[in-house]
Amino acid sequence: KLIKHTFFFSLSLSVHFFSVNQFFSTSFNVSKEKVSNWRDFLRLHCYPIEDFIHEWPSTPVSFREVTAEYATSVRALVLTLLEAISESLGLVKDRVSNTLGKHGQHMAINYYPPCPQPELTYGLPGHKDANLITVLLQDEVSGLQVFKDGKWIAVNPVPNTFIVNLGDQMQVISNDKYKSVLHRAVVNIDKERISILTFYCPSEDAMIGPAQELINEEEDSHAIYRNFTYAEYFEKFWDTAFATESCIDSFKASTA
Ligand code: OGA
Ligand code: NI
Repeated sequence: KLIKHTFFFSLSLSVHFFSVNQFFSTSFNVSKEKVSNWRDFLRLHCYPIEDFIHEWPSTPVSFREVTAEYATSVRALVLTLLEAISESLGLVKDRVSNTLGKHGQHMAINYYPPCPQPELTYGLPGHKDANLITVLLQDEVSGLQVFKDGKWIAVNPVPNTFIVNLGDQMQVISNDKYKSVLHRAVVNIDKERISILTFYCPSEDAMIGPAQELINEEEDSHAIYRNFTYAEYFEKFWDTAFATESCIDSFKASTA
């Protein structure tokens, strides 16, 4: 509530930078898209936290402390999940974590205002997250949907529950054993909605590719993706995101 009243009511420019890494914006990529999305958001870098916390908003006075505690706790949760995911792939438990270089963590605090004509836009149109794994906290208002078996399915809020989405980097590292989930957010005519997302990702210089242990040419399990740096991926994603649903296809290994 504090966050909502203090920040979102003062949002008047399309992008308002606190610094290169922390900013307010609206829609997704205002310079590229034809139809704007019905969303305002605050974007923060969260890891390593001491590199960024002084750039975060300083009002309300509790903002930095509360947000830092949240970011640190969600990071611990993610690291536990990554161990379980590594083991589920038959890899040693720090395998996925070790591919992420120095690691990165961002947060998006999304505000979807009530929308007089929800059929004309989205909160966010269908997309796959470019990062590794996303932990989503939503309020009690519905809006998130995932694409499954050819249909959009509502992920209705359950109190005290996180939604965990896998992103493109998990699909690449697992060599398609795990799939990046297609999802979107719709808006409501009479209700506002808030969601808080933690995007866990490799650091920019990390070299990403399918885990070697999952490749066995003799058994015909070849690498589906080529190696790339996360910086390269992210640049491509920012260029094409939401225009095409899949940035990941352009990183497939050549079959020639
Ligand atoms: C996102 C996202 C969904 C939501 O920010 O990438 O998918 O419910 N958000 O806000
Ligand atoms: Ni998303």
